[in-house]
Amino acid sequence: MSTDEQTQPAITGFPPEFATLMQLGDLVTPMAVRVAAHLHLVDHIQNGAHDVESLAKLTDSHQDTLRRLIRHLVAIDVLEESAPDHYVPTALGELLAHGHPLTQVGWLDPDHMIGRADLSLVHLFDAVRGGGSVYGQRYGREFWDDVSDDAVLGATFYDLMANGQKTIFSEVVKQRDWSGVRRILDVGGADGDLIAAVLAKEPGISATLLELPGPAARARARFEEAGLTGKADVVDGSFFDPLPGTADLIAVSFVLHNWPDEDAVRILRNCSDALEPGGSVLLIECADQSPSKPDRGFTSGDLRMLAYFGGRERTYEEWQELAVAAGMRIDSVSGTLAYGARMLSLVKSSD
Ligand SMILES: C[S@@+](CC[C@H](N)C(=O)[O-])C[C@H]1O[C@@H](n2cnc3c(N)ncnc32)[C@H](O)[C@@H]1O
Repeated sequence: MSTDEQTQPAITGFPPEFATLMQLGDLVTPMAVRVAAHLHLVDHIQNGAHDVESLAKLTDSHQDTLRRLIRHLVAIDVLEESAPDHYVPTALGELLAHGHPLTQVGWLDPDHMIGRADLSLVHLFDAVRGGGSVYGQRYGREFWDDVSDDAVLGATFYDLMANGQKTIFSEVVKQRDWSGVRRILDVGGADGDLIAAVLAKEPGISATLLELPGPAARARARFEEAGLTGKADVVDGSFFDPLPGTADLIAVSFVLHNWPDEDAVRILRNCSDALEPGGSVLLIECADQSPSKPDRGFTSGDLRMLAYFGGRERTYEEWQELAVAAGMRIDSVSGTLAYGARMLSLVKSSD
């Protein structure tokens, strides 16, 4: 009796939800795709190795096991067996090539920061029970220490984020009114993309970026290359300490969602203390506005923030509460920008 004959009658006796839930809970397929990304399988195929024996040699894999992995990749339409023992990627599989313009390798390959961090989701049980991050439990050090101290891993993180952030920042620069801004401080400003975009439009503004040492070095090199040295300086440090100097605009972009409320309030209080009179904090974050059914991208992002950092995605109401806890209030909020981001302008409650 074939496997199909054995399993079909049992499955057909169940309502469709049975198969749907099996698929929702399936860990095999996501892991098989990640192994394919990690082994550079599609790259090797595109470079001319189409059969299992050659692919096993190139990927240093056990031949029979690799054949079984490939068989599953064919079953889920990532690869196609176009002739016996001759594999080619489908349009879906091509996105696993490292050189593809829309490559998804950064999200999947554990040699890349997000692919690596995603594997900590195996410990989501502990995150849910304990309410904190599990990245450190898996790897013995925290996410940002890996990003800052390991230049190769760090580059995979910032390269993956770059396209999305550039799109969001160009909208921020276009939509925000910059009149009256003299000095901007970008807290946790990564490679300096936001500052570079602001200064390209408003060269009269002076800028400071605060970052951990690894990304700070990248930002410094970036500013030098862009001819911004002297206009935009970079300070190594932590936003849990008093901020370097004061500014009339303090940008905090996709930083607070990495932190639980208590830490996020500490960061915001430091920002508030460094604001010049009449100044504001520009938060760039997602802010789900309590629709009847939560958005799946928002909720899965939220659980990622939990597992990686003990952080959280926040609804607009939660941002309001956080601002109040830091002695501030939301003065204005923009419409939705790319990737669901919004600009929230925070001022001191007393202003
Ligand atoms: C999700 S990234 C956002 C980067 C950038 N603001 C953006 O929107 O693209 C968060 C940044 O916070 C930085 N960071 C983490 N802990 C920090 C700390 N204690 N002090 C300063 N920066 C920190 C990280 O290095 C990282 O670049």
